[in-house]
Amino acid sequence: MKCKFSIGALVLILFSANAIAAQDQQIQQKLATLEKIGPRFSFIVIGDNRSGDEIYRKIVAMAMERKPDFVVNTGDMITTPGDRKQWAAFWEMSKPITVPYLLTVGNHDAHPKVRGSERTYREQVDLPGNELYYSFVAGNALFVVLDSYIDDQEKKITGEQRAWLEGVLASSEQKHKFVFVHHPLYTDKRRGKHHGNSLDRYQADRDALQALFVKYKVSMVFTGHEHLYLRQTVDGIPHIITGGGGAPLYAEDEDAGFHHLVQVTVDNGKVSAEVVDVNGKIRDRF
Ligand SMILES: [Fe+2]
Repeated sequence: MKCKFSIGALVLILFSANAIAAQDQQIQQKLATLEKIGPRFSFIVIGDNRSGDEIYRKIVAMAMERKPDFVVNTGDMITTPGDRKQWAAFWEMSKPITVPYLLTVGNHDAHPKVRGSERTYREQVDLPGNELYYSFVAGNALFVVLDSYIDDQEKKITGEQRAWLEGVLASSEQKHKFVFVHHPLYTDKRRGKHHGNSLDRYQADRDALQALFVKYKVSMVFTGHEHLYLRQTVDGIPHIITGGGGAPLYAEDEDAGFHHLVQVTVDNGKVSAEVVDVNGKIRDRF
């Protein structure tokens, strides 16, 4: 009996080690592909696709027709943290995305209070380091992906992550800097369901985060969590809530309540963006 258990445990360890090695190889390939991108490129941002499979499939197809160099999701890819079946369905629906696909962790993807959900997230998502937050370089730009739901730091970017973030922003010599974080720094009290309960819940921490973005000249900040589209410019920095990837909408008005994607185009020193709804109509340009 003891022998059987030991062989089983050994097989499990070898299987896990192989899976980790394969994941490591995949992320290294992805980072190498991103680093080779020239100073003219485009990327697409999608968020909060969870539970809206039919719309998400349509948005994925639309995204690929626009030939981006890579795609970023601002989080809430699945509904139930830790659910491997939902992850399998997400990856199946995401198969048409043949360019690198980078994910931001949302509260539905891994939740500190749902045991094992962070472990499952690490299994499912290729991460360059040990944390769920990370950075990468593509073309002439730095991309920073944050984790706004660390245990005991929910809805804050503080502690080690903040120190890491400042180090990454301060040492970057890239022309443009884009930040992705699931919870918005700024919400709208007239629309959405999380006003005052996103990163704006702890305003001193939120202001300190925004001060870092200002200090290091961040180009744009992309968030999600609110199932709508909203662009607000704060201290000259566009903050874009792009939570229209499929989940039921939290706004009814024409300006914010539509499923969509955002395509950002970088042309050397110039950055522009186009917001396209699920029916192909351009809803915003900036
Ligand atoms: Fe969320």
